Amino acid sequence: MDRIEIDGGTRLSGELKISGAKNAALPLMVATLLSDKPLELSHVPHLADIATLGEILAQHGVEVTRSETGDGDALTLSAARITSTLAPYDLVRKMRASFLVSGPLLAREGQCTVSLPGGCAIGARAVDFHLKGFERLGAEIDLADGYVTAKAPNGLQGAEYEMPFASVGATQNLMMAATLAKGETVLRNVAREPEIVDLEKCLVAMGAKIEGAGTSVIRIEGKSALSGASHRVLPDRIETGTYAMAVGAAGGEVTLIGTDALNLEMVIPLLQRAGVQMEVIQVGDGIEAIKVSRNGERHMGVDVTTEPYPGFPTDLQAQFMALMATCQGTSHITEKIFENRFMHVPELGRLGANIKVDGQTATVQGVDRLKGAPVMATDLRASSSLIVAALGAEGTTEVNRVYHLDRGFEHIVTKLQGVGAKVRRLTN
Ligand code: UD1
Repeated sequence: MDRIEIDGGTRLSGELKISGAKNAALPLMVATLLSDKPLELSHVPHLADIATLGEILAQHGVEVTRSETGDGDALTLSAARITSTLAPYDLVRKMRASFLVSGPLLAREGQCTVSLPGGCAIGARAVDFHLKGFERLGAEIDLADGYVTAKAPNGLQGAEYEMPFASVGATQNLMMAATLAKGETVLRNVAREPEIVDLEKCLVAMGAKIEGAGTSVIRIEGKSALSGASHRVLPDRIETGTYAMAVGAAGGEVTLIGTDALNLEMVIPLLQRAGVQMEVIQVGDGIEAIKVSRNGERHMGVDVTTEPYPGFPTDLQAQFMALMATCQGTSHITEKIFENRFMHVPELGRLGANIKVDGQTATVQGVDRLKGAPVMATDLRASSSLIVAALGAEGTTEVNRVYHLDRGFEHIVTKLQGVGAKVRRLTN
């Protein structure tokens, strides 16, 4: 199995280009199921999760073609005919986002049978809000043998639904389903993540009538059919935050190019309070960049709680903890989105971090320096936290099970090498 080896303690410097957001690209790819006309997506990151979703869509009858460009991948997806409304366990278990096919299939074909999802082992990750929403739209739901069957033989009917919690996936799934329902749908207490705004933009380009993404109420006026469209995937705010924290941990100065600082409005001031300099700049032709630097003094401990957007993202919690491991003072990190997202704590401990977990809160007592050791990646974001920690550590760290990283970080080794990190991927 592949592993990544990092000789830590080298300051990072130079420029690093930010990829398209995985969490935006996945629902955008699924949106193709809503129309019999082609959808062209650009700035798509080249990742294992994108390939997995491509396989899932292909077995529903979607033709997927991929070409490499200097700006991520370009995908053309064409769902002229849906050949199957069954999403099998073998494929869906690999990635929770694949459950998103249920809404579009149900809306377009009047039925679907989709395996209950898998994905990162970070908690129960139920889909009850998705199913309750489908019921409100008039579908009948049946759960048996690990599969959900949803039926609406006469089509979905617009309705109101208030989500008990602002779930990202349920918001996207119900939004897509409602674009082909009869009449108006009002979704309340929805998630406000930038990836939802990106999905709304693409659906509107496909002819859907939607407004409100980015606020907590989304209104959708159903259409009888949607058309094709072209859409560029927004920059990855989680990748941006991860590399900013890597610079914080290792020191140096790196310009993160092609990102969108507005979508990091909680993250930037937090890092600044910790003593990491963050400056938003323009690098020609409207391209935004963030210059990140930490020189001299060790950074400070600050507290954070993960929350739905615009709060601090749970997908950066592990990386932030890796940064806090070497802070001056103490940091309290509270995880409010997932109940089992501290699996990186024992691995950071192997590098010498001093972290104690009590319920939802981890208390990090900063140490002078971490020391390299063999560690094991347990899930996608935890893996990236080990990379952040290793870059600032003394000596060599070997990160095992890096297939988790391949799910979500495009060209991570070459990107880090590009800013001077001593990192290599070993195969066998
Ligand atoms: C998405 C992101 C993931 C991120 C998460 C939270 C993608 C592909 N993935 O995941 O990287 O960590 O948002 O920002 O975009 N819940 C229920 N019932 C439901 C749905 C969710 O109880 O029907 C709970 C989950 O168990 C979890 C919480 O709500 O505790 C948040 O889940 P959700 O926002 O749905 O996350 P995902 O869309 O799966």
